[in-house]
Amino acid sequence: MSVASLVPRPQTLRVLGGHLHLTAQTGVRGPAAVVGLARELLGLSGPGHEIDLALVDDPGLGAEGYRLTVTDDGVRVRAARAAGLRWAVQSLRQLRDGDRLPFVEIEDRPAYGWRGSLLDVARWCHPLPFLRRYVELLALYKLNTLHLHLTDDQGWRFEVLKYPRLTEVGAFRAGSTAGHLSEGRADDVPHGGFYTQRELRELVDHAARLGVRIMPEIDTPGHVQAAIAAYPWLGNTPSRPLPVRREWGISRHILNVSDRTVGFVEDVLDELVDVFPFTYVHIGGDEVPLDEWAASPQAHRRVADEGLGGPEQLLGWWSRRLARHLERYGRRAAVWDEVVQSGVPHGTAVFGWRSVAQVEGAVRAGHRVVAAPYEHTYLDWAETEGPREPLAIDSGLTLSRVYGYRPPSTVLGVQGQVWSEYLPTPELVEWRAFPRLAAIAEIGWSSGERDFADFRRRLTAQLPLLDRLGVGYRPL
Ligand code: ACM
Repeated sequence: MSVASLVPRPQTLRVLGGHLHLTAQTGVRGPAAVVGLARELLGLSGPGHEIDLALVDDPGLGAEGYRLTVTDDGVRVRAARAAGLRWAVQSLRQLRDGDRLPFVEIEDRPAYGWRGSLLDVARWCHPLPFLRRYVELLALYKLNTLHLHLTDDQGWRFEVLKYPRLTEVGAFRAGSTAGHLSEGRADDVPHGGFYTQRELRELVDHAARLGVRIMPEIDTPGHVQAAIAAYPWLGNTPSRPLPVRREWGISRHILNVSDRTVGFVEDVLDELVDVFPFTYVHIGGDEVPLDEWAASPQAHRRVADEGLGGPEQLLGWWSRRLARHLERYGRRAAVWDEVVQSGVPHGTAVFGWRSVAQVEGAVRAGHRVVAAPYEHTYLDWAETEGPREPLAIDSGLTLSRVYGYRPPSTVLGVQGQVWSEYLPTPELVEWRAFPRLAAIAEIGWSSGERDFADFRRRLTAQLPLLDRLGVGYRPL
């Protein structure tokens, strides 16, 4: 492997010439929070101390930066925080060539503090061991955030102790779209599943050990047909029961705006924040069809009582209510960019997805923004059309198109979205996510000039590592 083949590209890297040889005696020492992980990821559990990880008081390294040298004397890693040591271990994994580590000097830190991937487990309930593995693969590329899309029209995956029907009923559907949504077909193959709070806590712990935080998403007030199927009183036409939706696409059924329904979602958030310690909780806000509110006397009363301009402003009101609830826990809300028009709550993170222009507009309006524009970051889109390509919602999102994205410098960061309508298996998720997530990682981490040919060369040099890990990536 070429010694300069790290992905994402480090801020500075100097190759010194020569190699350190790793043996059965080679060992790791360092702070308790990372030494076990380092031994495991590097496969080095000898009695020696050649790999020396230590925390130093050097604010210049930032929250995630590190300095790494490999010389005749061994490997020396210094960071101000454990996160930096973890990322250095990932660099060592990538640098390693069999039993050799090239002599290098690296000084590295990320351009953006938020580098993530959304994984949709609502459309298909991907198995928990795969979620653990996905987190491990995020960490390999120094991606620090998993955005877990836990609920949607087609399934509710988060166990809520107070409302058991959310998973007893809402986690199971009678069939799914067959073929592409545009064909208008559905099968009769039941699908379902959910994660217990205990399982999710274990996932959170596993991710934290790797330096990855998990942001849960409970999508409201649209994309909620599974919840309304479980508790019809949440909807706008409670006398007409709804099934958990089979078809992809957007349900026109949304939550009603009663205090009881707001209270229900607050109860769900109470349990959610207890499981997920990360500051941000995503409350959705995308693709909310307004027909039911427009036709609802209750919604019109709410508009009048709150002094709003019309039902279209209820989305902002809704989000502010939930954000205020999260504030009581010291948490912040995250929302999709539709909410910007009707008033984003103070301190909220806006996920710009509808276009690059929406990302830039939200930045100009002064919001904290995570860049997730579909044109560059919707990794469920196929790279090309062709007989070898599995079915996808759309195509044309090549590796170079992902890599070509330049988020504004003032965003929190960038995220690659893996919506799962057309990805029913972990194998298909890996095919779509890799290697394009490596491009997302480099956008989020590396500063300076972008050179796609150089990126592609380094990525190619990394593919044997993905092969060893058994990742079913799409060949370049
Ligand atoms: C979205 O793609 N509906 C956020």
